[in-house]
Amino acid sequence: MIDAVIILAAGQGTRMRSKRPKVLHHLAGQPLLYHVIQAARALDPQRMVVVVGHGADQVQSTFAGQPQIEWAIQDRQLGTGHAVQCALPALEGVDGDVLILNGDVPLIQSSALQTFLDAHRTDRRLVSVLSTTIDPPTGYGRIVRNEAGEFLRIVEEKDADNSTRVLTEINSGTYAVQLNFLRHALSTLSNNNAQGEYYLTDIISSALNQHPSPHPTGCYLHPDFFSLSGVNNRRHLAALERAFRDRLVERLMDEGVTFIDPESCWLDADVNIGPDTVIHPNVILGPEVTIGANCTVGAFCHISRSRIGDECEILPFCHLDGATLEGGNPVGPYARLRPLAELAPNAKVGNFCEVKKARIGHGSKVNHLTYIGDATIGRGVNVGAGTITCNYDGANKHQTIIGDGAFIGSDVQMVAPVNVGAGAVIGAGTTVTKNVPDDALALSRPKQVHIPNWRKRSTK
Ligand code: UD1
Ligand code: CA
Repeated sequence: MIDAVIILAAGQGTRMRSKRPKVLHHLAGQPLLYHVIQAARALDPQRMVVVVGHGADQVQSTFAGQPQIEWAIQDRQLGTGHAVQCALPALEGVDGDVLILNGDVPLIQSSALQTFLDAHRTDRRLVSVLSTTIDPPTGYGRIVRNEAGEFLRIVEEKDADNSTRVLTEINSGTYAVQLNFLRHALSTLSNNNAQGEYYLTDIISSALNQHPSPHPTGCYLHPDFFSLSGVNNRRHLAALERAFRDRLVERLMDEGVTFIDPESCWLDADVNIGPDTVIHPNVILGPEVTIGANCTVGAFCHISRSRIGDECEILPFCHLDGATLEGGNPVGPYARLRPLAELAPNAKVGNFCEVKKARIGHGSKVNHLTYIGDATIGRGVNVGAGTITCNYDGANKHQTIIGDGAFIGSDVQMVAPVNVGAGAVIGAGTTVTKNVPDDALALSRPKQVHIPNWRKRSTK
């Protein structure tokens, strides 16, 4: 539990060269800020204030409807100290500790934050900083310690002399601070520095000045640079995306998922996969994908917003979006399942088939070159090659309903709305425009005629 969290997200992110506010750029399928909010939530904060400025409306509307977020507006970005000041009115009356995070540090982990908070409390600090090491430390504030290793201050690169500039321990921009101390320290900040900004980092010196003993400031070193690193440009974004996905894939492998070539697969944050499932190279999964146990996902599949049960075999080059596979389903290669495609257990969709807003019943087969849209297909149905449900009349969509055990020959068109009864047989090449009774044979093609000696006549 933590009394309050403040997330700084008002900066423009000039180096992204983007019209979009930096914290709305996506990593693993979610805005950067989303990842930070999730990490904060795991600490069970009583209050959470996000400071926004650049593109504030856009940021706020992106997170509209999400619980617990309070917004503070920083109209002009006068520095990190000023940003925190803007958040304080929202926390009036709140006591205890506040955790301050940057909205552009997407790989931050709640476990690391918890360890950091525990240390801050055990050591009874007024202010604690989470640091890491990076070489070269370009762009970051440097951590300065005395000979005993005690934390003294943070010096921004632009204010640093040569001996400070070479230090490789840097400020991650993550702080735990006693709120009452913070209120006081912020009220004394000045912007007398190289950037003319109000530096939040100056509260370190004010803690040391006011309460020289016992040591009121702590700086806790975290070994993993990536998890504390911020996004300042699109190269950083790509590098962190890579690191995030490596972490995700490694976790899934630890949970029993095989990745034949982990480096080539791209997963969003909200992908879940059951044990003994095998993911082949060059697979893209997410957002909102759940895959059961004992499945195979073939090479070059792209799956989003889909739920896949156990024992499914998805062959290479399939595209699934908004599909549900209830289990034991063979799919593909080259199948396209669009939103609301639903495969009952053991239903099969083969190569070059498209399914949309349709349920394929238990054990039914749609094997080759077929379009099924706005349809309900019963159990044990066989749909022949090249079959089409003609669901659209140019104005409206209509339903095709096929009963259990029906057999649809090849190259059949079913002009919806139309029902095919249970056990009915549709001859190859038939255009079905009227409901077919149960167990009937439907044929609509003209009888084959032979005109003798046609060849001779036509070449005369
Ligand atoms: C700050 C730290 C630096 C640290 C670095 C880590 C200060 C003075 N320096 O650098 O020691 O190594 O973070 O990334 O704090 N922001 C606002 N309003 C502002 C300014 C910034 O909301 O007026 C937000 C930004 O959106 C960003 C975060 O604060 O999320 C950090 O700002 P940024 O400009 O990236 O960092 P620096 O100030 O350069
Ligand atoms: Ca800055």
